[in-house]
Amino acid sequence: MAAAIEVSGLRKAYGSRTALVGLDFQVEEGEVFALLGPNGAGKTSTVEILEGFRSRDGGTVGVLGFDPRDRERGLRERIGIVLQETALDPFLTVAETVELLGQCYPRRREAGDVLALVGLTEQRDVRVRSLSGGQRRRVDVAVALVGDPDLIFLDEPTAGLDPAARIGAWEAIRGLARSGTTVLLTSHYLEEVQQLADRVAVICGGRVIAEGSPATIGGRAGRPATIRFRVAPGLTPPLGEPVGEGIIELVTHDPTSSLHRLTSWALERGGSLDDLEVTRPSLEEVYLELTREPSP
Ligand SMILES: Nc1ncnc2c1ncn2[C@@H]1O[C@H](COP(=O)(O)OP(=O)(O)OP(=O)(O)O)[C@@H](O)[C@H]1O
Ligand SMILES: [Mg+2]
Repeated sequence: MAAAIEVSGLRKAYGSRTALVGLDFQVEEGEVFALLGPNGAGKTSTVEILEGFRSRDGGTVGVLGFDPRDRERGLRERIGIVLQETALDPFLTVAETVELLGQCYPRRREAGDVLALVGLTEQRDVRVRSLSGGQRRRVDVAVALVGDPDLIFLDEPTAGLDPAARIGAWEAIRGLARSGTTVLLTSHYLEEVQQLADRVAVICGGRVIAEGSPATIGGRAGRPATIRFRVAPGLTPPLGEPVGEGIIELVTHDPTSSLHRLTSWALERGGSLDDLEVTRPSLEEVYLELTREPSP
């Protein structure tokens, strides 16, 4: 199966400032792929080159088999776009906005369906200028969905949304993924990436510094687990070190056998390991480690 997006050796500079220095990645059809990276890493530059909104200085780029540089209608009709910043006509209502922009697409969806998907049914007749920031962001997402695209670009789609709206947006994105839409997402919310992405690329300094699934990126799966629990005062478990107030902690590459020893020990004494937790380094911890500036 052909990749939906192929990027190889992508370079971009703004005057003397280099933004992308040879970026490589591929997004398979039907995949949810996330670009992560600090402010200024080059995510928006990459996404907007793929959308055909920005020029590139070098490298090859394929999007659904097209070169976005050619700005062909055949490509435009098959992609949906949420830009990091958009300008909607403030005097149109929500429904008018979605209907108007939907006219660019041959295979458009009903405005009412799309508004229901992003939770704007009640605001359908409200003018855009009277919406809150988060509601406007939802209109952006609605506009990206109205053309029933095969591929959707979401540049920080949930920035500024309240937690409930964010979870609603995740549901909408999952729904797209289930229906086979390919999704390229950027986000600063690690939880969002963890929830949605099949694969992640971390961009830093204009290149991909790590790539993988959210569970395995940066060697995450191979990192030791931390086991933590509480025991009654005076008891000393066979494994782990006290870290305060009866709390015992243990860092292990083999949590299965460590837990076996610990739980056997507790049960033999008729006791328990209270507040037992087993954790791996979070995606956030791994990400911060990967993108930490090298110390001078
Ligand atoms: N239109 C522009 N003119 C000049 N420099 C630009 C322009 N757009 C981006 N840059 C520069 O290119 C680099 C990458 O910017 P880009 O917007 O792609 O980053 P980003 O990863 O999307 O960041 P953020 O997380 O803040 O959205 C930055 O150093 C930025 O200052
Ligand atoms: Mg950006």
